[in-house]
Amino acid sequence: MEKRKNITAIVGPKGGVGKTTISANLAIALSKLGKKVIAVDLDLGASNLHAIFGLRNSKYSLDDFVQNRVKKLTDVVLDTNIDNVGIICGGDVPGITNMPYQKKLKLIRHLLTLDSDLVILDLAPGASFNVADFAIIAQRTLLVTTAEVPSLMNVYSFIKATVFRRLNFFFKSKKCDGLPELLEKAKNFDNYPHLKTMEGFFREAGQINSVVADSAKKILSRIEPFLVVNRVRKKNDANVGMVIQNLLREYLGIKSTVIMTIREDNAVGDAIARMKPIMIEAPNSLFSQDIKKIASRLCM
Ligand SMILES: Nc1ncnc2c1ncn2[C@@H]1O[C@H](COP(=O)(O)OP(=O)(O)OP(=O)(O)O)[C@@H](O)[C@H]1O
Ligand SMILES: [Mg+2]
Repeated sequence: MEKRKNITAIVGPKGGVGKTTISANLAIALSKLGKKVIAVDLDLGASNLHAIFGLRNSKYSLDDFVQNRVKKLTDVVLDTNIDNVGIICGGDVPGITNMPYQKKLKLIRHLLTLDSDLVILDLAPGASFNVADFAIIAQRTLLVTTAEVPSLMNVYSFIKATVFRRLNFFFKSKKCDGLPELLEKAKNFDNYPHLKTMEGFFREAGQINSVVADSAKKILSRIEPFLVVNRVRKKNDANVGMVIQNLLREYLGIKSTVIMTIREDNAVGDAIARMKPIMIEAPNSLFSQDIKKIASRLCM
């Protein structure tokens, strides 16, 4: 699937780590930097992105597109009352979380052609194929975690699963016998300790097909995870990003991880209670300051 420059997926395999709050406010911060942004609620089972923008009812939602009531995805882009920020509200149809593959492809096709400088995808928790597929089309994936160990481990597992899924697609597209099977073995490395690291994997893969193995290595070297540690309370919390960074380097051979942090801030809850985005209500709050830094980094 073609990768487009303007899609940023907000992923956090653990629930409640701040994906939706970050998506909405990041969209606003990016608009303040002169970008036209559309925020898309892809948490299809439990959509709430509109609430962070303070919108109560949505005239149109993703349902209308998925159920073919409108032809184009642009038909369901709504105003947020904030200049240059549009929103596509999530649907509420039971079963939509298991969207048939063809519908998903159509949605992805339309997402890729939305008219804006940036598209922000607010994704569901978990690591389902739905989440992974939307994350894969994005040019940039922001992995949101808190400093708690379960959330950190979920993030690591998610990146690992995406790496394996990407390699699997690649090996199959090259019709290279032996490599998908080797990948399967590497997934269950308990029985194959020499495949525990990507280095070990590529050593053996190179013996099966050195050209394809080298290309796959290049694909991995281009992966640049963007970790956001949210709700940072103390100095130590900010360091946990390094734990993931080290795991990624050691086991998956991913060297260029970006780490950003967002501080814990009571103003976040206050803004939600007033049904106003914090970036508008309290643009100089700790949370807003940190989101602005992330927005600037995304524009680099
Ligand atoms: N930096 C922060 N400081 C204080 N509260 C925060 C911060 N970030 C998020 N929260 C709070 O955490 C809660 C969960 O946030 P949010 O709904 O954005 O998470 P989520 O990852 O989208 O959840 P889900 O996985 O259910 O979609 C909200 O009550 C929000 O106000
Ligand atoms: Mg959410």
